[in-house]
Amino acid sequence: MAQKKKQKQKPGFEDYYSEIYKERWDALKSGLLADADGYSISDGLLKPYYLDMASAAAARTLDVHPGDDVLDMCAAPGGKTLLLALALKGSGSLNSNDRSSDRRRRLKDVIENHLPTEVRENIRVTGHDATRWGLHEKDCYDRVLLDAPCSSEEHVLKSPAHLNRWSPSRTKQLSIQAHAMLAAAVDAVKPGGTILYSTCALSPLENDGVIAKLLKKRSDKVCIETISPDSENLSGLNAETTDYGLHILPDRNSGYGPIFMARLKKF
Ligand SMILES: C[S@@+](CC[C@H](N)C(=O)[O-])C[C@H]1O[C@@H](n2cnc3c(N)ncnc32)[C@H](O)[C@@H]1O
Repeated sequence: MAQKKKQKQKPGFEDYYSEIYKERWDALKSGLLADADGYSISDGLLKPYYLDMASAAAARTLDVHPGDDVLDMCAAPGGKTLLLALALKGSGSLNSNDRSSDRRRRLKDVIENHLPTEVRENIRVTGHDATRWGLHEKDCYDRVLLDAPCSSEEHVLKSPAHLNRWSPSRTKQLSIQAHAMLAAAVDAVKPGGTILYSTCALSPLENDGVIAKLLKKRSDKVCIETISPDSENLSGLNAETTDYGLHILPDRNSGYGPIFMARLKKF
């Protein structure tokens, strides 16, 4: 008689993350569910834009200067794009890209409603697939921001429908997609240029895991540029050092985050 195969039970969301974060998980979960104090950027804008303080820190850590050619690969709805555009101070260029047409509409509204004309003039909005960027443009940008689509566990926790659909394979798929985008970012940036990789994921697969895989394959092209947790761009935040970057987690940041960031330099 054929023996019935024992099916291995896949871990649920709670089991998966409590295995990773151990005794910290309960505090982290409360931090994810808490609403952080409103933080907004307003200097140089037509009206304030509300975003997470840790997200703003990631955009600032790309260290954009006037005259740079900048690519924001996954830009909508546009909080980080506003900061990149402001840093250009009207000189250089910014390509704000997002594949989703609905989100691109929001991105265009955010740009139009918040940026003065002279800052807006340098921005081009496009709708390409970031995973295929390197096929079209190589060695073109001084700075590339890749704020990758990710598990966004905060959103999953706050939405019963998303929690229901969650499975451990999702973070694996997202990490594969993020790796393809990051490899494309390496192609798109000029030699000597900088890439800032960020996510709002808790899953290490989508954070250090993506960087580790890239370095394994492309260490002849890029290296990590260490980000100091004490840098001015991170003031007011408690950023924890990881293998390749920094993680800002909401249980130690009054509800701000999660944001992972790592900075890479192309040779
Ligand atoms: C984390 S969000 C970006 C948030 C944005 N950087 C901000 O600060 O407002 C990720 C974005 O990636 C976009 N996206 C997903 N897959 C993509 C792809 N293959 N190419 C380009 N954009 C993509 C999504 O539409 C989404 O808007």
